[in-house]
Amino acid sequence: MTDLRFGPRLMARLDQLGRISSDSDRLTRLPFTPAHRQALEQVRAWMHEAGMITRVDVIGNLIGRYEGDDPDAPALLIGSHIDSVVAAGRYDGPLGILSGIDAVHALHQQGDRLPFPIDVVAFCDEEGVRFTTTFLGSRAICGTLDPAVFEVRDRDGTSLADALRAFGGDPDRLGEAAYSQGSIRGFLEVHIEQGPVLEAEDRAVGIVTAIQGQSRMVVCLDGMAGHAGTVPMGHRRDALAGAAEMILFVERRCAAVPELVGTVGRIDAQPGAVNVIPGRVLFTVDLRAPNDLIRGQAASEVVQGIQRIAASRGLACSIGREHDQRAMACAPRLQRWLAQALRAEGLPVKYLASGAGHDAMAMAECCPAAMLFVRCKSGISHNPLESITVEDADVAVRVLLRVLRDLIPPEASS
Ligand code: GLV
Ligand code: MN
Ligand code: MN
Repeated sequence: MTDLRFGPRLMARLDQLGRISSDSDRLTRLPFTPAHRQALEQVRAWMHEAGMITRVDVIGNLIGRYEGDDPDAPALLIGSHIDSVVAAGRYDGPLGILSGIDAVHALHQQGDRLPFPIDVVAFCDEEGVRFTTTFLGSRAICGTLDPAVFEVRDRDGTSLADALRAFGGDPDRLGEAAYSQGSIRGFLEVHIEQGPVLEAEDRAVGIVTAIQGQSRMVVCLDGMAGHAGTVPMGHRRDALAGAAEMILFVERRCAAVPELVGTVGRIDAQPGAVNVIPGRVLFTVDLRAPNDLIRGQAASEVVQGIQRIAASRGLACSIGREHDQRAMACAPRLQRWLAQALRAEGLPVKYLASGAGHDAMAMAECCPAAMLFVRCKSGISHNPLESITVEDADVAVRVLLRVLRDLIPPEASS
């Protein structure tokens, strides 16, 4: 076995970061929470150790800069997100931040400076669990974040604007988070695959070719709460029974198209008592497809289907389109660099597409972006059972370092 120069420390840090959570018995790190702050401070310390100067921008991204020979040259950005889903695994997000720090650390230890700066970014929110809308950090950096999202509220009624202010950010200065045009030479994200392909083909890592698009909605249904024993079935306006019919509609509509997937991942019924007919229901819809036309058409039909079912059951219905992100193709030139790095490391070159969303999608709106996937056990993700090996973690840093050190020409931009 090759000497594992990077893997052991990287895995230990991923474990350590994985213990920073809002919940005592599982990893839940939603944006703009004390756990988010604690994680930022830990990552910031590792960035300093790796020779970077750090700052937290107005949207809550932590950015570590490793200066280049020419501080004004467009920077290469490396990173991923520091937020998690509820009951998350340790690798989704943090692997892309900490592998970037390790690659920079290796440059620093050897006194290597590249012709251009490297910024390692811990994006504030990619999962969109707290506010449904997502890519807050990467969109702010690209200058594509719609300020209207600051009005979105979490489950407790806190607006994104207020949560951000309490965290030390400033929604009114959003523009300051954006990099100026031409100041980013490219973006690289290392991420666990979150699927079974690499494991099935016995590959440590793979190069992402494209990421499928996604749409998210929040549906709110209002019926009439009432006594579970006294209101005859024909007299009810049961919001939860309506939601059940709608969820099955979403499932059938998505199952009918091979490339399309649809998920209702969250549902709240009120007032939520065994003997009360549910008067109000809120549920989310997440639709994805590699083809934007297929996704767009499905989204319109899902909206129409939900409205039709609501009308037939006498339910008032409002549907918020919280998030739309088109599918994205990874930059060919960056894919080529990754392929060259894999070959130089003696690894086979494997290409694959991504079903999950990633900050790279948002970054692709303002710079060439690419991703390196790392094999994960049984393809399990968004689950505490998420697992990668120390050997594969080591490979990821070696590939990244090789791209940085050997492959990016000083003048490269795409
Ligand atoms: C993020 O992991 C997503 O794909 O929802
Ligand atoms: Mn992720
Ligand atoms: Mn995720």
